[in-house]
Amino acid sequence: SDPDLVERARAARAALGDRAFILGHHYQRDEVIDFADVTGDSFKLAREAAARPDAEFIIFCGVHFMAESADILTSDDQTVILPDLAAGCSMADMAAINQVEECWEVLQDAGIADQTLPVTYMNSTAAIKAFTGRHAGTVCTSSNAEVALRWAFDQVGGVEGTGKVLFMPDQHLGRNTAILKLGMSPEECVVFDPRKPGGGLTTQQLRDARMILWRGHCSVHGRFSEKNVTDIRAAVPGINVLVHPECKNEVVVAADLVGSTEFIIQTLDAAEPGSSWAIGTELNLVRRVAAAHPDKNVHYLDSTVCFCSTMNRIDLPHLVWTMESLVAGRVVNPIVVDSDDAHWAKVALDQMLALPG
Ligand code: 13P
Ligand code: SF4
Repeated sequence: SDPDLVERARAARAALGDRAFILGHHYQRDEVIDFADVTGDSFKLAREAAARPDAEFIIFCGVHFMAESADILTSDDQTVILPDLAAGCSMADMAAINQVEECWEVLQDAGIADQTLPVTYMNSTAAIKAFTGRHAGTVCTSSNAEVALRWAFDQVGGVEGTGKVLFMPDQHLGRNTAILKLGMSPEECVVFDPRKPGGGLTTQQLRDARMILWRGHCSVHGRFSEKNVTDIRAAVPGINVLVHPECKNEVVVAADLVGSTEFIIQTLDAAEPGSSWAIGTELNLVRRVAAAHPDKNVHYLDSTVCFCSTMNRIDLPHLVWTMESLVAGRVVNPIVVDSDDAHWAKVALDQMLALPG
């Protein structure tokens, strides 16, 4: 990074002192992570935001839905700031609240809404978290999806019963968790396509399903293929393949281990020196993990897969601008969730935070 910019960042950070707390998601650039007070996956960062009541400003180096969740979980006299408002998430954008409401009407018409609980992945808008709270469901992240799904099925008669979960917006995390952790069959999972009338499903398909998966995916993780796994195994005998659960089911099935960004870091920390690893997640994180473990042989699962372009929008110039503005008394890019949505989204987020484990 430009040394002058780094110097300005240090000066602004020092001037803000305890008034500001900086959170950095694992997919952020190194130049941003250098200034993060805490780094984490989306679950850890939500908890960290809620645990900093003394910070006047929470500067969220991550994407929009994470900053919204932090705003919901912090008090009204705290301000959450996203250094670049264009840092969205293509997956979160795949589920609009009006589409989700229409989907619920389809479930009502099929006579199954009262036996269905919504579970929304953290990677969704505050409006969808609020919808989930209004319908007594829960938020989940990639690190607690199994616990969240077990809890949700318990609310509608148990995993062995006939109740259903509407899982939004990541079909892959929902499918992977249902099949690999809860032991459901692929046939029990159906995909609701919001662009098709009735989600593209018949009433009978909806009635027979246990997991109704929203048709959404991550544009980064969705690009890893089963062939990537086969190729790396052929190239590096004995390699361990570790992927994020936003990858497609065939990739997760072909891999050795699956888990959130925090799990990936912990797994590499605990790995034997000299062991070989192929990691299927965002490139900033994989590069940092590789740099932190020069004694291990760390590969990127597919060298053509790019960074998460929206995570990458947060760069040092944006962070410096944010901090210098605050020092000058100007609050830039505050993230404020509408109070009714915030109330109900908090119900669903609190439900997640209350899950065991
Ligand atoms: P986690 O931080 O929960 O691993 O999720 C990854 C992700 O895609 C965040 O956008
Ligand atoms: Fe969204 Fe995927 Fe980027 Fe995460 S990695 S912010 S899910 S697009």
